[in-house]
Amino acid sequence: MYHSEIIGCGMYVPEKVVTNHDLSQMMDTTHDWIVQRSGIEERRWVDAQTSTTDLALKACEEAIKNAGIDKKDIDCLLFATISPDHDFPGNACFLQPKLGLTEIPAIDVRQQCSGFIYGMSMADAFIKCGQYKTILLVGAEVHSKGLNKTTAGRDVAVLFGDGAGAVVIRRAESGSSKILSTHLFAEGMHAKELWAAAPGSGLGSDERINHQHIEAGLQYPSMNGKKVFANAVRRMCECLNLALETNHLKLEDIDLFLFHQANLRINQMMAQELKIPEEKVFNTIMKYGNTTAATIPIGMSEAVKAGKLKKGTLVASAAFGSGFTWASSIYRW
Ligand SMILES: CC(C)(COP(=O)(O)OP(=O)(O)OC[C@H]1O[C@@H](n2cnc3c(N)ncnc32)[C@H](O)[C@@H]1OP(=O)(O)O)[C@@H](O)C(=O)NCCC(=O)NCCS
Repeated sequence: MYHSEIIGCGMYVPEKVVTNHDLSQMMDTTHDWIVQRSGIEERRWVDAQTSTTDLALKACEEAIKNAGIDKKDIDCLLFATISPDHDFPGNACFLQPKLGLTEIPAIDVRQQCSGFIYGMSMADAFIKCGQYKTILLVGAEVHSKGLNKTTAGRDVAVLFGDGAGAVVIRRAESGSSKILSTHLFAEGMHAKELWAAAPGSGLGSDERINHQHIEAGLQYPSMNGKKVFANAVRRMCECLNLALETNHLKLEDIDLFLFHQANLRINQMMAQELKIPEEKVFNTIMKYGNTTAATIPIGMSEAVKAGKLKKGTLVASAAFGSGFTWASSIYRW
């Protein structure tokens, strides 16, 4: 079996900053409510011309540069997103030519906020079994074009932002695997607790989307916030403990915790429950909101810039999201 390692990361967020005060001009909300409930102070939104693959391209270019590879070495492209450029084909197919690549497999991952760790797990497995050697994995989202920006959608609209993060995962030349483990889970019975119903073939109509669906707002995400919150804390703690157990590690052995960024309170509650010192948990949600599949690789790039993620750092990541899906990974930088 071969070994895998992450050799570079990159990120990109759009320039336009949208503050909580900006949102309060569009819907009945306040800066204080958003900060108290979620920790979010601002997020980024794209302009009308920018798509998810545009953000992904910039994050990928930075990851390729930081990895110091020739992009022609990339033999597989994985793209985690729930906000693609078009209904089909998948976003990896649109990104591949923008990157100047041809023929390599271009695969979309649709596992929402857990999408990046699901993608890491797939990349790790592809490399360990010898199928591919140099995999570009990107998580990118443009949520701002899919939110209900009126008071009716305020519970969801204030939480999400746009952004992209990418990593290059490569077969290690020597030594042991630096991706120590990935654990993936799903419980589809809760799929409708956080979802967007339309467009879809499951709506009991003969079109995937029609005027009635749009008038009912079925194209917008809807969420049972309290249930998502409670499950996020429980499941992320569970799968993090499992990852530690699998690797015969203790919490104190982990240098940095890079969790999914859904709500600062979720991450604070996890830290409290697991007794993780606050300075070991790296959060970016204050600046970017929830960028779904992009939150963990954005966190990697920001942690590198902040000097918290260096060669040899032992990192634990966990994520929870729509599906319900959840996942964890332990890796050495
Ligand atoms: C969404 C969330 C912040 C709401 O916080 P909460 O403390 O549970 O708040 P509640 O849902 O109890 O709502 C309290 C009140 O605030 C109102 N409210 C909801 N969104 C609001 C907003 N943006 N601004 C002001 N008031 C708002 C509600 O309508 C409710 O009013 P009511 O009491 O008159 O009915 C919280 O549930 C959460 O973060 N859940 C997890 C979300 C998540 O992680 N999603 C992504 C998963 S990856």
